[in-house]
Order: sequence, then structure tokens, then C-alpha cells
Amino acid sequence: MKEPGRYLVTAALPYANGPLHIGHIAGAYLPADIYVRYLRLKGRDVAFICGSDEHGVPITLRARKEGISPQKIVDKYHAINKKGFEDLGIEFDIYHRTSAPLHHKTASDFFRKLYEDGEFIEKEEEQFFDEQENQFLADRYIVGTCPSCGYDQAYGDQCEQCGTSLSPKELINPVSALSGNKPQLRKTKHWYLPLDRYQEEWLEEWIDSHQNDWKANVYGQCKSWLNQKLHPRAVTRDLEWGVPVPVEDTDSKVLYVWFDAPIGYISATRAWAEEKGKDWEKYWKDEDTSMIHFIGKDNIVFHCLIFPSMLKAHGEYILPDNVPANEFLNLEGDKLSTSRNWAVWVNEFVEQFPDKIDVLRYTLAANFPEQKDNDFTWKDFQNRNNNELVAVMGNFINRALVLTKKYFNRQVPEVKELTDYDRVTLERARAIKNDLEDRIEHYKFREAVKIAMDMGRLGNKYLADTEPWSLYEKDPGRVATVLNLSLQLAASISIVIEPFLPFTAEKLRKFLNISKLDWGLAGQSNILEAGHEVNKPQHLFQKVEDQVVEQQVEKLQEARRKKEQQERGVEPAKENISFDDFTRLDIRVGEILEAEKVPKTRKLMKLKVDTGLDTRTVVAGIAEQFSPEEVRGRQVSIAVNLDPRRIKGIESQGMILMAEDAEGRLTFLSPGTKTQRGAVVK
Ligand code: MF3
Ligand code: ZN
Repeated sequence: MKEPGRYLVTAALPYANGPLHIGHIAGAYLPADIYVRYLRLKGRDVAFICGSDEHGVPITLRARKEGISPQKIVDKYHAINKKGFEDLGIEFDIYHRTSAPLHHKTASDFFRKLYEDGEFIEKEEEQFFDEQENQFLADRYIVGTCPSCGYDQAYGDQCEQCGTSLSPKELINPVSALSGNKPQLRKTKHWYLPLDRYQEEWLEEWIDSHQNDWKANVYGQCKSWLNQKLHPRAVTRDLEWGVPVPVEDTDSKVLYVWFDAPIGYISATRAWAEEKGKDWEKYWKDEDTSMIHFIGKDNIVFHCLIFPSMLKAHGEYILPDNVPANEFLNLEGDKLSTSRNWAVWVNEFVEQFPDKIDVLRYTLAANFPEQKDNDFTWKDFQNRNNNELVAVMGNFINRALVLTKKYFNRQVPEVKELTDYDRVTLERARAIKNDLEDRIEHYKFREAVKIAMDMGRLGNKYLADTEPWSLYEKDPGRVATVLNLSLQLAASISIVIEPFLPFTAEKLRKFLNISKLDWGLAGQSNILEAGHEVNKPQHLFQKVEDQVVEQQVEKLQEARRKKEQQERGVEPAKENISFDDFTRLDIRVGEILEAEKVPKTRKLMKLKVDTGLDTRTVVAGIAEQFSPEEVRGRQVSIAVNLDPRRIKGIESQGMILMAEDAEGRLTFLSPGTKTQRGAVVK
């Protein structure tokens, strides 16, 4: 493996049209952060790049639905997501955005260079057009039936049911997502990247050269695309929102979002370098740089085939060394879904569990969907916290500090004599560090986090086996040695957990009264000098109670129920009341004797109702739907013990009960068969 001089690590730029959930975090951002934290600990020169992807049809569609500008949408979610990452300890060197002028310039220049070099194929073609909206229907502006799986809500760029990537003309029965109309065809000119030519010239060979160092899921997906043969791919669109096409006389054409967004990595690097007084070109154009893209599996083609094609066509850029894409994370056995509201949202988690960020990072890392989709459950979150973090790592650290305080007044004691068991333990610590390096460098973070935890297990077992608490009377020298080694292990833990549990690592450094240490020290026996004073013992982790798990699962189900009800137009449930409260209501069967519209109102009708108790006047909002003739003689349910209300100058002495559906249609709650006036409804 080459030892690069510097690293450029990118994490997929999230669309700024919604909040982040744990699926996003587990897919790309947390693995990237773990990797980068490791590189930093090793003292590597690394730029960690991310930002908001602020173009594309999902954003304009959402803006349209909410009746606000796309810029408003992206401003909102850019801020929310930037903060979400910070709260999770995901430390990008820059979180840029593709609406920034520097990005527009970088992307325009890039396109212009390819245009001037004659890299593009220019094609005039008929495309779908919505005449009512006066707009071409690119990507998600067009919806129809998927030719592969028959799903009837497939988009013009992709079927979300079966994942097939589509072009608008492949859709069966396409309709405009804007007006619902059948689209017309209209001529328009666009620029295409000749992926078919690249496949023959170099792309396939380049992918093949990575058969052994790229993950099987990534390599496999690339091969499957290549086997189906690549086609020229349009890199411009007839849209208003995006980076304007910078050549010819091209009004209301923009760069395809998947052309401009990955260039966002470049503009972000430039912005960062400018701020830090660095040379951005070294990170993008020097063969000594290792470029790594962290993404989710839905981004594989773009990062492994299309963006490399753009970079190569440009000519000055290096290609990625690796693209360690993850599969998808599920939640409680079910697909994470924004539209079905089945998700753990980053901002909500942070708000509810500000001191459990590392527990989330730990649980996610232990369940990364590295080879196949994987599941997050709250029960697992609790188990990992209680059985591993609290019971093993936390227990060890606490014991080591308590005993050091008890016997040595918080000073690191001196090693007297090492036993074989001590030597084996130290050897094991060094082995853990080496294994950990190997796994992180091969992007095997699930194994890595387990190995990092092994350092805690090692310490915990070491104390349990040596039992220094029962030795002090007999052999204080032995206790000194054991606690010295334990504290060295604790210091090693503070290093090896830093990529995974950065907040805990910081806490632990405070306990041990040390600053951040180099990776190279992990597993060593002389990290802390004898006599160094550690701080008062405290707990690293707190237990998660059963009730928290129940609440979270219930909250998820509740959120999904609400969402489903909303979609069906059902009003949310009201709070429970007591049975007594209910029996205080007096509802009777009444008969409408007379009915007339209240003048100068649309809705109101004045009724005379025989309640069995008396005959009274009631004003009801039913006149839009019913005529007086229709309601006369009808038996209805009426609440009779309400305080009278004046409506349009008439005193209304009760309320007729009606069912109202989502469209506002009313139905009387009448007895199924005619019954006695005044019969009690209960
Ligand atoms: N916005 C895309 C997504 O969320 C990812 C863009 S990655 C980039 O799927 F490379 F294009 F920036
Ligand atoms: Zn499909």
C-alpha cells in the first residue's frame, strides 16, 4: 500500500432539502469522520470536505410545494445540517455550499474547459414539455410507470421502488409532476458526456484495476453498469435553478445537478485552502494525494464512473483511490424513510440525548451496513451502552482511577517488576493497536470499533484477574505495578477510541489529566510518567434505562401513525379523558321539526328540535350541504347540556353531532332506526 503524502477525504454533499437521519450518518459521514480522525491522530495532512448540495429538482419541487423560494429552503437546511454534523462531532474542515459564488465559478470553468476541448457531444432532441407550466420536464418533474417493476410513481431519473436508473422517455404513461398533464414533445439542445467512449478507452480498465482494493459491493455495482454498456449522459438541463450553462446563448439552461455537485468538492477545497493559506491544487492534482470518497450506495455510479470521467476529461485532476460506499441502514427492522417518517432524526436525538452522542456513534459504527443492509434498534443502543460502554470500559476506567486515588493519592505509581501476565497484557495492547490500524485502513470500521473496545476489555480483565484491591496489605509493590499498567492502558484507550468516541476520549483525557496524544503511543507501556497526577474518579458513561427504549420505540410508532393518518386525512387523536368526564355529556336523540337558512350567511341553518325534554332552537353550520327540506323530520344526535351560545343574534341551545371527513363533508349521526325522542346516547 502506498503511503500518500496527503489525503483528500470527501463525504457526499447532502441535499439541503430536509434534515438528516441516522441512515445518512451511518452511510457516509460517520465512517468518513472515523477515518479522518484516525489520519489526523497519525499526523497526516488531510482535508476533510463536505457541504450542501443545493441544486436539483427535489429542492425546487419542495420550494414550490411550500410556496417559498429554493434559496429559502437551502438556507434553512444548510444551517440545520451543518449544526447537526457539528453536534455529532463530525468535524469537516469545511462545510461549504453549492449556491456559493465560488462554486458557480468553479463549476462553470470546469464545464467551459470540457466544452472548449470538444469533450461533449452536442445533441438536439425532443424532450417532454409541460405547456401549461411552460417548462421542460427534466428528472423528477416527470412521473410515470417504471418499465422494470411497474411502480407507477417512478421519476424521470430513477425508480425509487426498484432502484433502476431511468430516462424520462422510458417511463410508461408519463405525466408532468407540476400539472399532472400529459406532456408534449419539444426540441431542445443539450451536452452529453461520452461515457461509452470512455468505457472503451480507459474507464473499464481503471475500474478493473480496483477489483481487489475496492469493496465488493462497490466494484460489483460498477461492473454491472459497465456490463450493460454505458451511454452518453446529458450534463445539462432546461431548468432555472442551478449553475447556468456558461457557453453559447443558453437561456434557462443549467448544469445537471450531478455534474455540478461533485465539483462542489473542488470548490469547497478551494474555499478551505483560501481561508487556511493552503494550495488547493496539491489536494486535487498531485499524484501524491490519496482521494477517498465516502458515500451511500445510491451514489456509487456518480462517484465511480461519472465524476472520474469528468475529472479525466478535464485532464488536470487525479482520480479517487477508493470509494468505500456503505449499503443502507434500517431502523427497528424497517426501511428508514423520510416520507413515512420512520427515522431517528439527528436534531431530535441531539436535543434528547446531548450526553449520548458517543453512544449513538458507537452503536452506529458497530452496525455499519458495510457489506449489506443492517439494522439499528433502540434495544441494541441500550445493550451496547449498558453492557459494553458502562460495564466494561466505564467500569475499568473508574476502578483504575478509584484505586489510584485510594492507594497512591492520585499519582501514577512506579512499576516495580513485570510478571509474565503483565507482559502478555502489554503485548496484547500493541496487537490491538496494530489490528485497529489495519482495519481502519481497509475501511472495516465495524471490526475496528470492536477492536477499539477490546482495549477496554483488556483493561477490565486485567484488573479483574490481578485483583489489586485485595493485595495492598500483602504486596503494595505489586499493586503499584498493576495500577501503573492499568493507567497506561487507560491512556491507550483515550487514543484508540478517539476516532469513534471523540467526546468520551476528551472526557477521559480530562480524567487522566493529559492532552491529545499521538496515535503511535497507543499500546505503549510508558505513556504516563510515574508521579503524574490524575484527576478525581468519575464515570465515563451512564446507564440507559428500559423506559428510554420503550419511549423511543413508542415515539417512532406514534410519529409513523400520525404521518399515515395525516396522509389519509384523519385528524390526530385527542388526549384521554376520564369516564366521568364523558358521562357528564348529555346527548339525546332529537327530531328536527323546522328548518330555515339564516339570512346573509352561507353555512348557517336555524333548526327547531324536539329533544324529548323540550323543543329548542339550535343553529348548525350545515346549510352549504343540506337544504331545509332535506333535514326536516330527521332524527339526529344532539348535545343538550351545553351552555347556550349566541350565533348571528340567535340563541343556540345545543349542538347537532355530525361526522366531518377530510374534505369537510358532513354526515348526520342519526339512529339506525327511528326511536323515541329524548333517548339517551351513551
Ligand atoms: N446530494 C446527493 C445525495 O444526497 C449527493 C451528492 S454527492 C456529490 O444523494 F458528489 F455530488 F456532491
Ligand atoms: Zn421500478
